[in-house]
Amino acid sequence: MSALAKAKSELEVKGFLDLDVDPTLDLFEAIQRLKKEKNAVILAHYYQEPDIQDIADFIGDSLGLSQKAAKTDADIIVFAGVHFMAETAKMLSPGKKVLLPDLKAGCSLADSAPAPVFRKFKEKYPDHVVVSYVNCTAEMKTMTDICCTSSNAVHIINSIPKDQPIIFAPDKNLGAYLQKKTGREMVLWNGACMVHEIFSAEKIAKLMARHPEALLIAHPECEAHILEKAAFIGSTTGLLNFTINSEAREFIVATESGIIHQMEKASPEKVFIPAPPDNTCACNECPHMRLNTLEKLYLCLQYEAPEIILPEWIIQEGRVCIDRMLEISANAGLVSKD
Ligand code: 13P
Ligand code: SF4
Repeated sequence: MSALAKAKSELEVKGFLDLDVDPTLDLFEAIQRLKKEKNAVILAHYYQEPDIQDIADFIGDSLGLSQKAAKTDADIIVFAGVHFMAETAKMLSPGKKVLLPDLKAGCSLADSAPAPVFRKFKEKYPDHVVVSYVNCTAEMKTMTDICCTSSNAVHIINSIPKDQPIIFAPDKNLGAYLQKKTGREMVLWNGACMVHEIFSAEKIAKLMARHPEALLIAHPECEAHILEKAAFIGSTTGLLNFTINSEAREFIVATESGIIHQMEKASPEKVFIPAPPDNTCACNECPHMRLNTLEKLYLCLQYEAPEIILPEWIIQEGRVCIDRMLEISANAGLVSKD
């Protein structure tokens, strides 16, 4: 086996990269060169580290990234995000090679709904439609009627006839928020995101007292007692746009701190304070998202691995709920802008 083939198969098996990268290499230049040579596109979520955001062709929230993945004519999609996002890109572009810089970049929320357990749960509610937040596994999507993201969830729920009972999975916090916003009672799966459940209401209250002009803005994956204090609730793109359009000059940001990079770039004159978590750690970084690094992005493009491979039936059955979501969003003119 050639050295290149050996390195590639190691990446595929282990799903992470321990190959040495020449420390003198200009990674930005090398990634740009490989991207051009291979007709690749880099999609990055707002929770990626700043260097990855800066080199990406498109930065966005889950809706924007899905829409981009569905439309790109690149041969290779490098998904700088987490596993379920790369799976979604693969389902939408099955003919393309989809790469994830670190295969271990999972998601606590997606993991909270194992497909076999959800299958049993769903059997108890045969007359319910299943709406799943996009943060779930590809297999879970095969059991879902309509997918949603945080930017279109209210609209998706409102598009379902009022007398139709709904199961909402896997995020109980987003589910509770949607119940409040839409007035619909839903059966909620008991899952949550480890990053958005960590914020301390007490520390946020103290911070607000020290910064009386600052507005608290929060992602709907946060718990209800945080959301009820927020001046604005929205997806990552929604939060970013709010900070751009708001007259306020100071914001306490209750979501993963990666989004602050774009907020500071868009409004350098404004101040962004990460909401404090309920522990001694000073950061709100998603440990899964942050497994991706510029080095891994470079190696992943060079070796075209690790690649997301999905069984045909998962692609066929899983994409139905994503197509429904994209169709409903397009009809409503919901376009997630970066
Ligand atoms: P959005 O970017 O769609 O708001 O999703 C947030 C998130 O938690 C992604 O993992
Ligand atoms: Fe999953 Fe939460 Fe990380 Fe998003 S921030 S990838 S929902 S664990």
